[in-house]
Amino acid sequence: MARITASVYTSHVPAIGAALDSGKCGEPYWQPVFKGYEPSQAWIRANTPDVIFLVYNDHATAFSLDLIPTFAIGCAAEFQPADEGWGPRPVPVVKGHPELAAHIAQSVIQDDFDLTIVNKMDVDHGLTVPLSLLFGQPAAWPCPVIPFAVNVVQYPVPSGRRCFNLGRAIRKAVAAFDQPLKVQIWGTGGMSHQLQGPRAGLINREFDQAFLDQLIADPAALAQKPHIDYVREAGSEGIELVMWLIARGAMGDESGPGTPRVAHRFYHVPASNTAVGHLILENT
Ligand code: DHB
Ligand code: FE
Repeated sequence: MARITASVYTSHVPAIGAALDSGKCGEPYWQPVFKGYEPSQAWIRANTPDVIFLVYNDHATAFSLDLIPTFAIGCAAEFQPADEGWGPRPVPVVKGHPELAAHIAQSVIQDDFDLTIVNKMDVDHGLTVPLSLLFGQPAAWPCPVIPFAVNVVQYPVPSGRRCFNLGRAIRKAVAAFDQPLKVQIWGTGGMSHQLQGPRAGLINREFDQAFLDQLIADPAALAQKPHIDYVREAGSEGIELVMWLIARGAMGDESGPGTPRVAHRFYHVPASNTAVGHLILENT
């Protein structure tokens, strides 16, 4: 049987990808950001999974106002890095895991979550920047990745509660897959940031740290937080944080999300317009 061994949470700022791709990681502005991921790179070398289920959001790259799936699961054999306006990032193609993805789609849809099946999709910085932060610049990504896109761009977006419950359904689906795979689930996006309007540049350290504390200790209570609280306190793009609740919901066992071991915790401001938060939680 497959099982979820750990979850990884990280912000996905596009400028981090640009800094890495253009060899600027050592510059004084970026050095502290990349330093925070050095323990994570060592951790993932020792704990490389068989598959990563990567929860992220598309930024009007693969989808647009023409088509807005709330939850979309990538079932293809591969996904190309997207061109977001400056050409595709020079990162490896993302290999999928069609068999596990199709199994999860079957199980989760039968569990009453309406997923959109995606058989062709380019993946933007929401997915590739977290891979770069954890794996650096390899010639090929070390394992297959199932992209799972969540609409947090165009309202109405899903609630934290729905995301958390969806995570529970994904955990159950993985546990029922008939191959002995070690699966990690990653929740990406956030933390506090607002990219437009009079409050552009908003960062809220207290909110972010309290979010990390509660995500670890009491995610079911955190899942009750209404949208308006994210937007008011963490900025309009802070709503990306609901995706972390999908990953956290998938931890633990059938009795609940459990008390995971904190393998790494990191927080840094600023990176571009965003507060960078990062957690690695292991199932015990
Ligand atoms: C930034 C952050 C994001 O999450 C994003 O999608 C785009 C830009 C930023 O901080 O610049
Ligand atoms: Fe974003």
